[in-house]
Amino acid sequence: MRIMKILFKNRRILFLSFNKNNYSTAPKYLATLRIGEKEYRTDEYTNITPKILSYLNRNLHLKKDNPLSLVRQRIVNYFYSSFTHGGNPIFSVYDNVSPVVSTKQNFDDLLIPEDHPSRAKSDCYYINSTTLLRAHMTAHQSELLRAGLDNFLMIGDVYRRDEIDSTHFPVFHQIDAVRSQRKEQLFENHPDLDIFEPSFDRTNPHAYTNSISNPIKQSCHTLEATKLMEAQLKNHLIGMVRVLFGEDIKYRWVDAYFPFTHPSWELEIYYEKNWMETLGCGIVRNEILANAGPNNTIAYAFGIGLERLAMALYKIPDIRLVWSTDSGFLAQFQNKNANANIVYKPVSIYPQCTNDLSFWLPPTTTIDTFTNNDFYDLVRDIGGDIIEQVKLKDKFIHPKTKKHSLCYSIVYRHLERTLTQAEVNKIHKEIEDAATKAFNIVVR
Ligand code: DAH
Repeated sequence: MRIMKILFKNRRILFLSFNKNNYSTAPKYLATLRIGEKEYRTDEYTNITPKILSYLNRNLHLKKDNPLSLVRQRIVNYFYSSFTHGGNPIFSVYDNVSPVVSTKQNFDDLLIPEDHPSRAKSDCYYINSTTLLRAHMTAHQSELLRAGLDNFLMIGDVYRRDEIDSTHFPVFHQIDAVRSQRKEQLFENHPDLDIFEPSFDRTNPHAYTNSISNPIKQSCHTLEATKLMEAQLKNHLIGMVRVLFGEDIKYRWVDAYFPFTHPSWELEIYYEKNWMETLGCGIVRNEILANAGPNNTIAYAFGIGLERLAMALYKIPDIRLVWSTDSGFLAQFQNKNANANIVYKPVSIYPQCTNDLSFWLPPTTTIDTFTNNDFYDLVRDIGGDIIEQVKLKDKFIHPKTKKHSLCYSIVYRHLERTLTQAEVNKIHKEIEDAATKAFNIVVR
């Protein structure tokens, strides 16, 4: 039985809702949920599962023998050595901030509109309607700016509901950064140049509507300041991927959109015959800086995922491996210089087992309104880390009855031993039973 301790306000401990045989994707009762020392009320937004909560204190990015922490060290070293003042690094690092954040931190402070799809319940792990597990490290940008910081890195675990395959896991790790400059720093030898357009009064930013309709720049910024920041941003980030992947790495910039930067780009690198997206970046929207405090700076920011980099650098074939506690895995990264050229050698490859699950949807749901991510979370909650992949295999509408049906293939593979078909069948049956109860489906 999978047990979740939910503390009611009156301190009675109840074990509810997450019993495998009585699975529900959201607690049906108005309970409070305890995470660490804190209690949170739950509501109709609550969709966090016990499985996800179990990842909260793993802190892979801080574990010396984890490949993610080697990548992290290399990136941090690059920033420490590239930006110094009087011989000291100017970037500070925040890598121990709780992943529990408010919707204000994760969305509002970053100008993410109320109706933006990234806020959807189907994409995030909500603790309640105003609290969630951060979906990106950018969630801490405003509070650190407000604290008076100008150059900083935020490193940690982020949580997103997504499909299940060898490159997706609901928890992954990001480094996010902000680099700010004042006029005297940006235009050191050109005192006549300015960050802001003359029509913008930086002492009264709220009297001005900062437009982003021009793809080149924010209306409050001068072209010179924007272009110089863009050149520095691109130069620094190319320097970073060259340090990681070598001088000859092929790359390209792709125009992008993020609500919190303008203009924005993504950097892709050519890796094993594919263009691989590595990071998002841009010039921070001036409203964010002005709301958080500084009114005399321009900043660039970027966010980069660590798993993808580590998998490419060390040839790690499956994202679940970074969570492995198997000594055969960890020993390959132990006591290694961060710059060492490590190629992961599979401990051994155990066979996959694939079982299909077909079901009729209840009359209230269609093949287009069924939330795939709810199904993936349920499968992961019951099957745990032996779930390698869940693929939507078929959608079907019965020509006569008009009933809607879906078929998913569930691929099972243990990373450290061979699974027996009997053992897989048992878990598969548990998934069938739990899905039947949670989604009111009928297994075919
Ligand atoms: N937060 C974005 C993501 O997770 C990445 C990102 C883009 C971070 C632009 C930034 C930024 O700081 O400026 O996809």
